[in-house]
Amino acid sequence: MTVVLDRNVEEFIATPRQLFINGQWADAASGKTFETPNPATGETLARVAEGDKEDIDRAVRAARRAFEEGPWSRMTPSERGRVVWKIGDLILEHVDELAQLESLDNGKPFAVAQAADVPLSADLFHYMAGWATKIEGNTIDISVPYMPGANFHSYTLREPIGVVGQIIPWNFPLLMAAWKLGPALAAGCTVVLKPAEQTPLSALRLAELIAEAGVPEGVVNVVPGFGETAGAALAGHMDVDKVAFTGSTEVGKLIVAAAGASNLKKLTLELGGKSPNIVFEDAMEGAVEGAANAIFFNHGQCCVAGSRLFVHQTRFDEVVGGVSEIAKSIKLGSGLEAGTQMGPLVSEEQFQRVSGYLESGQAEGATAVVGGGRFGDRGFFIEPTVLVNTHGNMKVVKEEIFGPVVVAAPFSDLDDIAAQANDTEYGLGAGIWTKDIGKAHALAKKIRAGTVWINCYNVFDAALPFGGYKQSGWGREMGHEVLNNYTEVKAVTTQL
Ligand code: NAI
Ligand code: MG
Repeated sequence: MTVVLDRNVEEFIATPRQLFINGQWADAASGKTFETPNPATGETLARVAEGDKEDIDRAVRAARRAFEEGPWSRMTPSERGRVVWKIGDLILEHVDELAQLESLDNGKPFAVAQAADVPLSADLFHYMAGWATKIEGNTIDISVPYMPGANFHSYTLREPIGVVGQIIPWNFPLLMAAWKLGPALAAGCTVVLKPAEQTPLSALRLAELIAEAGVPEGVVNVVPGFGETAGAALAGHMDVDKVAFTGSTEVGKLIVAAAGASNLKKLTLELGGKSPNIVFEDAMEGAVEGAANAIFFNHGQCCVAGSRLFVHQTRFDEVVGGVSEIAKSIKLGSGLEAGTQMGPLVSEEQFQRVSGYLESGQAEGATAVVGGGRFGDRGFFIEPTVLVNTHGNMKVVKEEIFGPVVVAAPFSDLDDIAAQANDTEYGLGAGIWTKDIGKAHALAKKIRAGTVWINCYNVFDAALPFGGYKQSGWGREMGHEVLNNYTEVKAVTTQL
């Protein structure tokens, strides 16, 4: 049985999609378009206008105007909050439609997008809506030792940072748009969003809902296009105040360079990971399922995937055996097929990249307990894979694979495991499985990563800050932490 496509989805993909600039739908200045393929078949799903430098310029001008002059900057925080809330409501009114678009464009199972991606996106807007009225400065009693006897009144203002460029990846297209847009709008910024070239569709549908929610023209502009052109133009733009980026560490470094070579715009970066997931000898039964979910959720295309599994040596065979059994049982198929648990990787490029890692693992002496290759002969499917007999210098152990591939290794003692867990240039997430809660918290303190899950994995919430230590990034998204990255602080002092 296959999911029956919503009429809106059929119409949406049948018509070439345009850029959303200043509240209007427009073709790219160059007239160019690109194809977004359906990764389950490799066939073209839809055609989309291909934004480039000139379109980014136009979008930034619209965002600047909306920031400086438009009704957006005159709205009260309460009005702004209600508009942001409405975006969340509209997403919830279109769950199936958005989940179908996401499944078609990205390949993930419809049921997963319906249960996770779309409701989480709505919740992010609902959560951020409340912050619009709670962004506050402080009053500060100052001393000024070189002006004895003088009296002052000092306070801080927290102001929106300005025009924000947002560059997002393809692994959670709608959710990443929500993570980025929610706090920017709550803080009163205006935005030029560039979705990933692999998955532009849900962000374009979201733009329609954002307009319907009452966000004034020019406040949110969506310009699909490629990284080296549209993305680079945004990162290097002289009139963009901040860029928020999620993607590879490699491109993160290019964005830092572009900001440095242009106007020193502020940056937040959410980059790669190679997260350790540690199962102790006293871990509960659920640890096996948890370890499988940590790597196989979203086909391993998660920045925070538990891709390095460490199991205490006394339970190594049992846990690795259990994870491998689950890997074998996972039903692969098109995201729209009922019962599909894992879809294809997002693109041919990602399929080639992950296949390359599987070959390199084998060449360097790792053994696949299960999986290790392509699934089927159509689309971009990779078998869920568990690799053992690995050592610390292998590429599959050091580098982010971003596919359903976990490397498993035994460990013997607590002191050693913290060092092994931290032996990576990344620091995004970590999992710890043990009944000894004191041991868990002690280890959580030693791990250099932005998120630590104890007896669970992949638990996200709009209220929890998320981001990376080390080369996993700069700054935090979600929670109230994120608002610091969308506001500037101004200190105002009056002599009385
Ligand atoms: P990527 O980093 O190239 O793409 C992410 C976004 O950056 C896309 O919107 C892309 O158009 C844009 N981009 C690319 N080059 C740019 C440039 N020079 N200037 C400005 N923007 C640019 O990631 P890609 O190539 O899709 O995947 C490669 C690897 O990156 C994956 O295998 C994975 O390891 C990692 N990755 C990490 C993600 C995360 O969630 N942290 C998400 C996607 C990829
Ligand atoms: Mg790339």
